[in-house]
Amino acid sequence: MTVQTAVAPPALRLQLEQPDDAALVDALIARAFGPGRHTKASERVREFATFAPDCSVCAWGSESRGSPDGKGAGRLLGAARMWRITVGGEPATFLGPFAVEQGERNAGFGARLIARACEAAQAAGESHVVLVGDEDYFSRVGFSAAGGREVILPGPVDQRRVLVRALKADAGLLSGAVGPR
Ligand SMILES: CC(C)(COP(=O)(O)OP(=O)(O)OC[C@H]1O[C@@H](n2cnc3c(N)ncnc32)[C@H](O)[C@@H]1OP(=O)(O)O)[C@@H](O)C(=O)NCCC(=O)NCCS
Repeated sequence: MTVQTAVAPPALRLQLEQPDDAALVDALIARAFGPGRHTKASERVREFATFAPDCSVCAWGSESRGSPDGKGAGRLLGAARMWRITVGGEPATFLGPFAVEQGERNAGFGARLIARACEAAQAAGESHVVLVGDEDYFSRVGFSAAGGREVILPGPVDQRRVLVRALKADAGLLSGAVGPR
C-alpha cells in the first residue's frame, strides 16, 4: 500500500506594505532589477504618481529575521507596489515595481502578490490597474495589451507592454495620457 503524504503549499503571508518595510522592499527591488533597469516610462509615472500603501503588498516567508519580540517578522520574499494615477482624467492605479526574490521564483508567489494587490485596489474602489510588462506573464493574472492600447505613457514604451486589468465588470476602456492624481 502506498501512503500519500499531502504536500503543504509554501508558507507565505501577504500583507500591505508598512512604512517600516520600505527599506527592505527597496533593497529587494534593487536586487531583482539591478541598477537602471526600470523602464523609463514606469519611472516617469512614479515621479508624479501618488504611492498607494493601501494597495501595495509584501510577501513574507515564515523564516524568522530574529525580531527581539521572538515572533519573527519573516523574510521578505516579494513585493508589489501600487500608485494612484489618472488616464485621460479618469482615476486608475499603476502597478510596479513588482518582484520576487531570485531563489523563490516559480512557486506562484508572484501571481499571489498580483492577486492580493488587485483585490486591495478593488476594495479601495479602483476600477483599473495599469502596468508595463510582458503580456505572456501578466495575461495569466488578468492583464491584457488590448486594454492598454489607448493608454499614453510619459516617454517611449513598446505599446504591446502597456497592460491593463479591469477590476469592475462595467469598467470601460482606458484612453488618454497618464497623469497625476
Ligand atoms: C516576474 C516575477 C515577479 C514572477 O515571480 P514568480 O513568483 O516567479 O511568478 P509565478 O510563480 O507566479 O509565475 C512563474 C511562471 O511565470 C513565468 N514567467 C516569469 N517571468 C515571465 C516573463 N517575463 N514572461 C513570461 N513568463 C514569465 C515563469 O517561467 C513561470 O512559468 P511556469 O509556471 O510555466 O513554470 C519574477 O520572475 C521576478 O521578480 N522577476 C524580476 C523582476 C521583474 O521582471 N518584474 C516584473 C517587471 S514588470
